[in-house]
Amino acid sequence: MDFLPGFHPVGVAQWALVVTSIGIVLLLSFLVLNSRQAGLSHIPGPFLARYTDGWALYTAWRGIHFHNKVHVQRGLQARYGDVVRTGPRSVTVFDPAAVPVIYGVRSKLDKGNAYVPFRQAGMTTSLLSIPDEKTHSQYRKLVSNAYSMTSLKGYEPYVDDMVNRFVEVCNQHAFARKPMNLSLWCQYYCFDVVSKITMGKPLGSMQGEGHDAYGLVQRVRAFGFYSGLVSQMPWLHKVLQDNALMRKTRPSPFMKVVGGTVQARLRAPDPEDQPRPDLLSHFVATHAGYPSLMDEKQVLIMTSGNLIAGGLSPSASFDELCRYLATHPGSQDKLYAELQQAQCRLPASYDHVKNLPYLEGTIREAYRLHSSTSFNLQRVTGTAGLELPNGVQIPPNTNIGCPAGAINQDVRVFGADAAVQPRAVDAARERNE
Ligand code: HEM
Ligand SMILES: *[C@@H]1O[C@H](CO)[C@@H](O)[C@H](O)[C@H]1NC(C)=O
Repeated sequence: MDFLPGFHPVGVAQWALVVTSIGIVLLLSFLVLNSRQAGLSHIPGPFLARYTDGWALYTAWRGIHFHNKVHVQRGLQARYGDVVRTGPRSVTVFDPAAVPVIYGVRSKLDKGNAYVPFRQAGMTTSLLSIPDEKTHSQYRKLVSNAYSMTSLKGYEPYVDDMVNRFVEVCNQHAFARKPMNLSLWCQYYCFDVVSKITMGKPLGSMQGEGHDAYGLVQRVRAFGFYSGLVSQMPWLHKVLQDNALMRKTRPSPFMKVVGGTVQARLRAPDPEDQPRPDLLSHFVATHAGYPSLMDEKQVLIMTSGNLIAGGLSPSASFDELCRYLATHPGSQDKLYAELQQAQCRLPASYDHVKNLPYLEGTIREAYRLHSSTSFNLQRVTGTAGLELPNGVQIPPNTNIGCPAGAINQDVRVFGADAAVQPRAVDAARERNE
């Protein structure tokens, strides 16, 4: 019996449909408003990028997955020009002349949220992830003496120890006619070097047959993948990592060993087996002088951050340098001849090799083609906005950055053969002279 004619009970399915539709309409309105408010409608770019960082996230994933990041960047530049909108509030600048304007020490732009994934749970003061330039330079000043030229020269004997071990390993493989995975050993070598100059002792990756000590190489690689993606949509970091749950997880074996060393050195700053200052001695001395700014936790953050930052980029660069030399025997011969003529001994001293043009050119060319970061080093325009050298106006509070990979292949800077990969090292030499 139907006692309410005309009334049909609304099912769960219909309600869900209504709620979802309202949700979608609200989300779309938010995206459109957010896009309008950014004031970037005068900057061309892919349609989706105007409304969502999802475009950049997807593009970053493809770049990592297919190893074609620079190719994708150059495609964007060819299509949209030197200034491209790559997100609702993000702009990518391909003009080499903009590099000093965005990154120069005098421009003092703050870092953007792309650095948020570098924040370990609960720790906000690693140098790399401090966003505002004032705080950053304050912390940088605290540790800058550890990186002065005089200090660097003091670390040289430490590096020599590691060079000797590396050469020993190469020789063992050569005499036994055993293939050696140079990529892998470049990583072992660089992480041992940075550990030796930071804490006075290597992690031990180069011992015996060589192994990934404390799983650091593996972890750093996984983190590179994570940060490459999450930097494009930084709020994801809060959801995935920087939350109460993750803060309670146990420290990794790597953090444990670094923590142990730091604690010991804070208690006994000058151990007997430590004849020369390493980076940690500088940090500990700063702690003694400015205990409130450089507290014990800060010493740990600087030490562990240095180990990761100082192992990752150098090992990738060294690996690529070796690969270019291995694939260009002519360049290898030329480099060898230059080193022989300079009567270079092993291990070479910095003063002995610092003015060798072909060596310098080889290293610079490897840096040029080096595929360091998977995202732009992001900065944020200040309250006044920013005028780019080509006259384009960028409004205030806009994320801005230059893609190093594409700019390093820009014909305006490096000449017509800039995109030849890998190109003869001779060209690098000419540029360098
Ligand atoms: C081939 C060598 C290297 C390359 C290509 C390289 C590259 C980089 C890049 C791209 C950044 C980020 C800069 C930014 O976001 O603005 C950085 C930061 C950093 N690197 Fe390196 N790096 C190298 C060697 C080293 C070494 C040997 C150490 C330590 C001994 C080191 C320690 C650091 C530290 C502590 C930071 C954070 C600095 C800050 O934010 O003020 N790096 N590096
Ligand atoms: C050498 O090591 C690299 C880096 O770990 C790895 O990607 C590569 O597959 C290894 N090559 C061989 C032949 O094992």
